[in-house]
Amino acid sequence: MEYKNLTCEIQENIATVTLQRPKALNALNQEVLSELRHVFTEHLTREIRCVILTGSEKAFVAGADIKEMDGMTPLQSRQFARSGQLIFESIENFHAPVIAAVNGYALGGGCELALACDIRIASEKAKFGQPEVNLGIIPGFGGTQRLTRTVGPGKARELIYTGNTIDAQEAHRIGLVNAVYTPEELLAKSVEMAKTIASKAPLAVSLCKKAINMGSNMDISRAIEFEADLFAESFSSEDRKEGIEAFVQKRKASFVGK
Ligand code: CAA
Repeated sequence: MEYKNLTCEIQENIATVTLQRPKALNALNQEVLSELRHVFTEHLTREIRCVILTGSEKAFVAGADIKEMDGMTPLQSRQFARSGQLIFESIENFHAPVIAAVNGYALGGGCELALACDIRIASEKAKFGQPEVNLGIIPGFGGTQRLTRTVGPGKARELIYTGNTIDAQEAHRIGLVNAVYTPEELLAKSVEMAKTIASKAPLAVSLCKKAINMGSNMDISRAIEFEADLFAESFSSEDRKEGIEAFVQKRKASFVGK
């Protein structure tokens, strides 16, 4: 598939997906959403150990495309929300960690897209918010759920009910982003983290992601039992043998992802 609204560069086993719809500040219309779906479900292979998802300096993503939503019937809007939600779920459930490198605006669907990623790193110029109530609608790409699970109900309610935009420092303070860097440093620091993740045992990292994602939707006793199942799964891997042997032999492990 030829992408019109994004690029995907792969270096070794790290993919950088850059949204490029500058005229609309990377707003998510059906075409952008379908390219995002394609890249995560069909283009990127099991070899990828970490993905960086980023935008332009002005905007990570300024939300769902408001002009495209204009005139949608309630039924069409539900289908639009569901299709976006399923695409975001494919990012959330991608086998390797996804880092959102947020440069500028991450509003509405843009904030929700960042929330579907494992880790958010922001530039000092980034701005976050769920401004849907200004439009007479509600977040529809998972924001009411993922923002609440990420920053807790108090802050999530405030952001969603007021529609206020917060800067990167405030987003960091409330736990919405992991770190804040200058715009010049943002990508290099994201790549640095991606390389650290990519250097670890890929199957183990993938199982960690699965344990965190699936466990957070279970009650604690079931979730820790699920962790034990995945712990056992990691023990059947070649990488476990290699990792433990390398430790004992005081050498660097060489992981194959099996
Ligand atoms: N949808 C469609 N077009 C958008 C857009 C969006 N979400 N955000 C920006 N654009 C377009 C603008 O219409 C404008 O296009 P034209 O030049 O053709 O007029 C262009 O991008 C540049 O935008 P501005 O001139 O507005 O730029 P600015 O610097 O003055 O303001 C901004 C930037 C504060 C981000 C402002 O564009 C803005 O408020 N955008 C909308 C943010 C928003 O409400 N997002 C939530 C959308 S709803 C949603 O996401 C629902 C959901 O959960 C599924």
